[in-house]
Amino acid sequence: MTRGVAIDVVGTGDQLVPTPHPRDGRPRPGPRVPTPVAAGDPVVPTDNPPPSPREGDDDAPATPEAGPTAVRGVDPDEAEEFLRLFHTENPASGPVEPRIVAVREEIDRTGTYVHTHDELEFGARVAWRSSARCIGRLYWRSLHLRDRRHVTAPEEVAAECVGHLREATRRGRIRSTITIFAPDGPSGPGPRVWNEQLIRYAGYRAGGRVLGDPRYVGFTDTARSLGWLPPSPMGRFDVLPLVVTGGGEHAAAGPQVHEVPRDAVMEVDLHHPEHAWFAELGLRWHALPVISNMRLDIGGISYPAAPFNGWYMATEISARNLADADRYDMLAEVADAMALDTSSDRTLWRDRAAIELTAAVQHSFDEAGVSLADHHGESQRFLRFVEKEEAAGRHCPVDWSWIVPPISGGLTPVFHRYYDEPTDTGPMFRLDDQAKARGRGCPV
Ligand code: ARG
Repeated sequence: MTRGVAIDVVGTGDQLVPTPHPRDGRPRPGPRVPTPVAAGDPVVPTDNPPPSPREGDDDAPATPEAGPTAVRGVDPDEAEEFLRLFHTENPASGPVEPRIVAVREEIDRTGTYVHTHDELEFGARVAWRSSARCIGRLYWRSLHLRDRRHVTAPEEVAAECVGHLREATRRGRIRSTITIFAPDGPSGPGPRVWNEQLIRYAGYRAGGRVLGDPRYVGFTDTARSLGWLPPSPMGRFDVLPLVVTGGGEHAAAGPQVHEVPRDAVMEVDLHHPEHAWFAELGLRWHALPVISNMRLDIGGISYPAAPFNGWYMATEISARNLADADRYDMLAEVADAMALDTSSDRTLWRDRAAIELTAAVQHSFDEAGVSLADHHGESQRFLRFVEKEEAAGRHCPVDWSWIVPPISGGLTPVFHRYYDEPTDTGPMFRLDDQAKARGRGCPV
């Protein structure tokens, strides 16, 4: 076990659940008041391969962090713009002017400022509301905030991530939740979670093939090089450990690996409402999607660790994770079990297999009592969201190619229209190039 590696995290309390799933970032303007930083992102020596040139649409264009070690000073104009938005949308918070004066003074004095609880909660909610790739934004106002800005030590970050899993899962009654850790600031960087999501499955190279999730072969290697021992025997659905770098004075110490306790991870075994053979495929998926490597930018303050979750839409699992050729690639096996003619794509065996996989995911989650959307309902809710945003006079950024579901696109109403272009202002989730590389096991 290498130095700085701790295995096993004690989870925190038990609480409980809508659906942020912006999956990544867009370009942002460069720093206006660059400040040097105390310590930076440590880099783990690995012999991982470079990122795959073949990237699915999960891999969004990303932006560099402001250098591996840079922490930017806060731009007072960005702060003011955010405060104006907050006060306009929250009239009960009183007049904005005194707050602007106080924040400008605080930035002058300290190089940064501290969000109030209400500002932070609003900022996180607006970042969700502005996530052009997320179809689940109707309930953006219900995002539950776990304010953990005081947390920088890596073992505490890991423990709080486990706490997030427990509180958000609620035995299946999933609650949209965000945990916000310490921001980058003049006294050092905030902590970082290397994992793309808090719960993901390991991928192991075995001969010319991969056991598990091929997407995480590189990350699995990184975890192992940091001392993680995979279960024995290795399986197709081994939950990866958390890899965390601390913030502030802990930043220089290098990444730590923390196992995710089994009882913090709810999973659903997949079976089909009509086909008994389906269960034999041995498929399962985790209940909670928690994106953990995107930074949250609010009013000039940058929170590099702010894991957030919604609940799944079935097709994310059935038509992408389990179906994509570079993921679990299950369509042929399902089609064979259905005795479909797979001699030509034109028989539509792929399409029919993807539909039955989707039926199995919906049925299994429903039976297990786990929140899960379907692409028809979610599309309708999304159009309600767009209408509400238009009625409020707000620009509503939408990335059509991410909103239209991966099966039956034209059968859903989201397919049949144009939307506002994505923008890059205001509170926003972003994926830095370095965070993206770390999430794939290719630290740069
Ligand atoms: N598509 C990602 C996955 O399959 C999850 C992205 C977030 N999705 C969500 N419903 N909040 O794991």
